[in-house]
Amino acid sequence: MIGSSVSEAAANLKAGKLVAIPTETVYGLAALIRLDESVVQIFKAKNRPAFDPLIVHVPSLEAAKPYIREVNSEAKKLADAFWPGPLTLLFEKSDQVSDLVSSGLPTVAVRVPQHEITLRLLQALGEPVAAPSANPFGYVSPTTAAHVAQQLGKEVAYILDGGPAKVGLESTIVSCLNNEVKVLRLGGLSLEQLSEVLGYTPELQLSTHSNPQAPGQLDKHYATHTPLYLSDAGLEELKTRMKPGQKWALISLNPLADLPEGCTNYPLSQSGNLDEAASKLFALMRNLDELKLDGIVAERLPDKGLGRAINDRLHRAAYRM
Ligand code: TXA
Ligand code: MG
Repeated sequence: MIGSSVSEAAANLKAGKLVAIPTETVYGLAALIRLDESVVQIFKAKNRPAFDPLIVHVPSLEAAKPYIREVNSEAKKLADAFWPGPLTLLFEKSDQVSDLVSSGLPTVAVRVPQHEITLRLLQALGEPVAAPSANPFGYVSPTTAAHVAQQLGKEVAYILDGGPAKVGLESTIVSCLNNEVKVLRLGGLSLEQLSEVLGYTPELQLSTHSNPQAPGQLDKHYATHTPLYLSDAGLEELKTRMKPGQKWALISLNPLADLPEGCTNYPLSQSGNLDEAASKLFALMRNLDELKLDGIVAERLPDKGLGRAINDRLHRAAYRM
């Protein structure tokens, strides 16, 4: 069922059911962290490996305190500057957080989403929910209620519809453990925004297969079923890959001209705006997947602002063994 009733969403969660919730980044698949069986259902519904820990969602830093050990100065600085917002922070967990949620790690990822209806839900609940993105493991994250219904409609008791996600990329994950700031996942909060508040550029420790800092960040992720190729020069890449009679898509930041027959260009923005591009990316990837094309080429975006996180997602979507 899709609707916009906070009380219905709350009642389902309290009854141990899964509820999809809107956030400014992507839609989440939520369960109360207190109910182990419900948390297990999240992993089952997504077909998600148990080693991939969940993010705990709370309405404020204050509400997070029973679940974490301490808030050091760098974490406080970032929470004060960016919550509610597309930032997830890592803390040492208290015994209120089960090993199911943290996948056995001594730490827990926490965020305060910037979405009015979900903040009201979290206030009404009076306790946190765990919520990964509401997509089958490895696929593109959902940015609308309809995306959730298409793929996980049978698994959720209720989809709380909060409209299309404004940011469109998952939260940026930052560890401030030992007061050392490290970015574990690029996302909806840019490196520039973080650096401005910190007064320095934090270290990037993005996960790869050989370095799983944020364990869910496997190389192959966010992937379409249609093969996707990432390139600095999209049009040239397309011309070498496309065979006569085939249908291809070319994703670019700005509109491109002079395309070969059979190829359609899908610009992410008319004006080169990286925030707009981020908000459109995942819906476009889903739409293109439905066209059953022979292939997709994506042209790498400028490595600044949200362009960096978009390139990270495209890179993982394009990864081929
Ligand atoms: O924007 C978002 O963050 C969305 C919305 C729904 O809030 N959620 C989301 O969750 O993207 P998910 O499960 O798709 O990604 C969470 C990632 C995990 O894959 C893992 O890499 C990292 O967060 N993570 C969670 N707990 C962690 C921990 N204790 N240490 C390191 N990484 C952790
Ligand atoms: Mg995800």
